[in-house]
Amino acid sequence: MILDGHSPAAIGQAAAALAAGQLVAFPTETVYGLGADAGSDAAVAGIFAAKGRPSDHPLIVHVTDAPAARHFAREVPAVAQRLMKAFWPGPLTVILPRRQGSASAAAGGHPTVGLRCPSHPVAHALLLACATAKPPVHGLAAPSANRFGRVSPTTAAHVLAEFGDALMVLDGGPCEVGIESAIVDCSRGVPVLLRPGTLTHKRIAAACGERLWLPHEMADASPRASGTLESHYAPQARVRLMDARALRSALDVLGPEGAGIAIWSRAALRTASRQLLRRRMPDDPAQAARELFAVLREFDAAGVRLIWIETPPDAPEWAGIHDRLRRAAN
Ligand code: TXA
Ligand code: MG
Repeated sequence: MILDGHSPAAIGQAAAALAAGQLVAFPTETVYGLGADAGSDAAVAGIFAAKGRPSDHPLIVHVTDAPAARHFAREVPAVAQRLMKAFWPGPLTVILPRRQGSASAAAGGHPTVGLRCPSHPVAHALLLACATAKPPVHGLAAPSANRFGRVSPTTAAHVLAEFGDALMVLDGGPCEVGIESAIVDCSRGVPVLLRPGTLTHKRIAAACGERLWLPHEMADASPRASGTLESHYAPQARVRLMDARALRSALDVLGPEGAGIAIWSRAALRTASRQLLRRRMPDDPAQAARELFAVLREFDAAGVRLIWIETPPDAPEWAGIHDRLRRAAN
């Protein structure tokens, strides 16, 4: 059932459901999350069951502000404090050493916990209502509100399409950012960018005040994180990335054919086919990120077999989009 996320009554109803151990989907600025009381291992088990996600894959815990992170983090290293100061509330998750006995199911049993303070007003209102409930719910564990391995939802309707009408969904409109938060592991002595988002490597490194590492530069293997699996964010159709030249030759070969094929490209492409489904990829990376998952879902809903996507520019602002497309194509 979809509730208006901007209605205080709906926020109250959702907070009560969460406090009672139920699942509620809610909007964040990045994507919609499937939330549960992070302090209740039983409630969190419901998330893993609903998503069909392996229970050792850790979830992100959402909190109202930086001080609330202390409920879940054993310590907050200086670099994490700088990141939280620079980007919270906003699309950045920090991985911190976990306080023993807190949010263990949400953390998938790992000794660390991923924490994020979202900027979406509906998420904020919900977190606040939860934190002031009796007894208080100090954080909401929430992965993206999609079944395991599938495309993340950026509207309430997308969430409904994943889980059906039995789930309570707070509607906060389409997500501003459109792809998931950047994740920085601050539990290893040096900061490591585990997942790129829309904040660039350069901006995050500047806020760190020290070198920001990439996973492949580290000697030890990072914990298995679903957002970092090679095949993820996958629509039903097969996705192929091609540069504009390869796309032009493919269209030449196709001629007037093209049923069952969809294209998302920045380049203007001439084609003799009237059956192709075509959408324009925005030149602005922020706008492209906003549209990415909705476009993939639209193509799937149209029942195409193949999705051809123009490789995005090799520029830092496109890194998060590139990452999601590469995984969708795998
Ligand atoms: O933007 C987002 O981050 C969205 C919204 C809902 O906040 N959430 C999201 O959650 O993308 P999810 O569960 O789909 O992705 C969480 C990622 C996974 O790759 C997970 O493994 C990683 O964060 N993660 C969470 N806690 C971790 C931990 N303790 N150590 C390593 N990775 C962790
Ligand atoms: Mg996800």
